[in-house]
Amino acid sequence: MKFIHILLICLSFKTATGLWGWGGKISGFFHNKLEKAVRLTDGGFVFKLWRDADVPIYMLVRFFNVTNPDLVLRGDKPILEEVGPYVYQERRENHVEEFSIDNSTVTYRTKTTFYFRPDYSNGTEEDIITTINVPYTVMVERGLNLSSLEKFVLREIFETNGERLFINKNVSELLFEGYYQPSVAEASGLANDTLLPNNTFGFFYGKNESLSDRVEIYTGVSNPALFAQTRSWEGQTELTFWDDQYCNMINGTDATVFSPWLTRNTTLQIFSPDMCRSLYMVYEKDVRVTGIKAYKFVIPKSVLESAEVNPDNQCYCNGEEFGPCLQTGVLRLAPCRGGAPVVLSWPHFYNGDEVYVNQSIGLRPIKDAHEGFAMIEPYTGLIRRGSKRYQINVELKPTRQFRDMKRVPNMLFPVMWVEESKLGRFNTRSYFT
Ligand SMILES: *[C@@H]1O[C@H](CO)[C@@H](O)[C@H](O)[C@H]1NC(C)=O
Ligand SMILES: *[C@@H]1O[C@H](CO)[C@@H](O)[C@H](O)[C@H]1NC(C)=O
Ligand SMILES: *[C@@H]1O[C@H](CO)[C@@H](O)[C@H](O)[C@H]1NC(C)=O
Ligand SMILES: *[C@@H]1O[C@H](CO)[C@@H](O)[C@H](O)[C@H]1NC(C)=O
Ligand SMILES: *[C@@H]1O[C@H](CO)[C@@H](O)[C@H](O)[C@H]1NC(C)=O
Ligand SMILES: *[C@@H]1O[C@H](CO)[C@@H](O)[C@H](O)[C@H]1NC(C)=O
Ligand SMILES: *[C@@H]1O[C@H](CO)[C@@H](O)[C@H](O)[C@H]1NC(C)=O
Ligand SMILES: *[C@@H]1O[C@H](CO)[C@@H](O)[C@H](O)[C@H]1NC(C)=O
Ligand SMILES: *[C@@H]1O[C@H](CO)[C@@H](O)[C@H](O)[C@H]1NC(C)=O
Ligand SMILES: *[C@@H]1O[C@H](CO)[C@@H](O)[C@H](O)[C@H]1NC(C)=O
Ligand SMILES: *[C@@H]1O[C@H](CO)[C@@H](O)[C@H](O)[C@H]1NC(C)=O
Repeated sequence: MKFIHILLICLSFKTATGLWGWGGKISGFFHNKLEKAVRLTDGGFVFKLWRDADVPIYMLVRFFNVTNPDLVLRGDKPILEEVGPYVYQERRENHVEEFSIDNSTVTYRTKTTFYFRPDYSNGTEEDIITTINVPYTVMVERGLNLSSLEKFVLREIFETNGERLFINKNVSELLFEGYYQPSVAEASGLANDTLLPNNTFGFFYGKNESLSDRVEIYTGVSNPALFAQTRSWEGQTELTFWDDQYCNMINGTDATVFSPWLTRNTTLQIFSPDMCRSLYMVYEKDVRVTGIKAYKFVIPKSVLESAEVNPDNQCYCNGEEFGPCLQTGVLRLAPCRGGAPVVLSWPHFYNGDEVYVNQSIGLRPIKDAHEGFAMIEPYTGLIRRGSKRYQINVELKPTRQFRDMKRVPNMLFPVMWVEESKLGRFNTRSYFT
């Protein structure tokens, strides 16, 4: 049996570091001094802020609890109840590996430590959630490609382990602690391959205190305009996941920091390893954050528009190798996650096709709650307030070959959504932005 690289699933979506703290500290600089200040060189104070980010970042996780799993197995629309948020405080440190010879770039990895914050959470890590068994759907997807004898063996493995499409797991198992999956262990044994670390699945399993991928960014020393722009990721200056050069471009910063001197016309380029692609934000309006003027930038609809509407996005469809091209508002991660049927969207399919919202009962996209944004002080390029938001969905396709999959609806099944934000001035839940 061949199961090579079935999984994923390091859905280790990282984001913003503590550069959010800069604002007050350097906004007093004059124009020419600023350019000298905004550089990542050893010993510089911007460098120290960047390396030991001390501004707390919070990760808020919300699950879609399925209230009618048995009916979904018979083809009904899922009825979803959003639960949470379960809040984790993050501590990040950038571990510098090296500077280039001329100091024009720095290569580093980020180490993130997560602490559960019961005081900010609406629920506990013991809460039981009914949701999709993600590793099972991945094995099914892979299983479809096997010979009939191998499929028979895989079905036996599922039967003897009582593997089902829906599971009831507590929050800590679904996120950091993970749950052991005997059928993954058995299938791995047969395939003589490792499918999941320790045959254990959790969306953030193994991510606490671990180091991120290797990223090389420009320091701004040789060219201030390139400050914090990504040069390479895991040693590559372009990606290999997508169909053509455009989609494979590595453009922009990690969205924690931008170059100074923004105008309302600036398009902010962002490279997101978690989304396996580059994206961008555009100006929406002027705002004030604690009295200071800022520009609000948002992720426009065009970023995830379907190829029909925005032909630039055709290359994210990979010649339909992983299924028909999807509609607006979603990104299939299969090409960069070992074929796993995982699809990313904005929360509640915000800015997405109505069809996806309508496939479940209980979703309601709302701009203020679900849109990703950054409020940036234009002269310094510093983020005063911002939120990264995304939703994880599983692409469900009925198939006669596996028991629980026979009559399920053909749909994108929402599992959870995640928001990473800086906490507002007062430590109460209503001040998350
Ligand atoms: C999720 O739904 C299940 C079954 O309907 C219920 O037992 C459980 O308490 C719910 N979880 C939360 C956090 O509300
Ligand atoms: C807490 O969760 C419950 C459902 O689990 C929900 O009804 C309630 O609105 C949530 N409260 C907040 C402040 O989010
Ligand atoms: C690079 O930076 C280090 C530390 O600031 C300095 O000692 C070294 O001379 C710089 N190299 C070049 C080529 O500027
Ligand atoms: C992450 O590791 C730290 C240090 O070992 C620990 O205190 C914390 O509870 C862990 N977080 C989670 C979510 O398990
Ligand atoms: C979650 O469930 C696992 C397995 O039953 C258990 O070992 C663990 O203690 C639970 N975690 C919490 C926080 O209740
Ligand atoms: C299925 O098998 C075919 C032929 O061996 C291969 O080209 C294709 O990539 C496989 N698909 C998946 C999802 O593994
Ligand atoms: C299993 O894989 C390992 C390393 O990939 C290899 O050394 C070993 O010979 C393989 N065993 C079998 C039975 O194929
Ligand atoms: C797998 O288990 C071993 C032993 O318990 C542990 O040291 C290791 O960190 C685990 N792997 C991951 C990715 O958590
Ligand atoms: C990357 O940046 C170049 C130059 O600014 C631009 O032409 C291109 O459209 C960008 N690519 C993506 C995928 O954003
Ligand atoms: C922004 O774009 C508009 C229209 O394209 C142009 O008239 C204006 O000069 C630009 N402003 C700046 C600061 O580049
Ligand atoms: C939403 O689903 C209902 C059936 O469940 C259907 O009648 C309606 O046309 C759908 N609306 C859209 C916009 O797809």
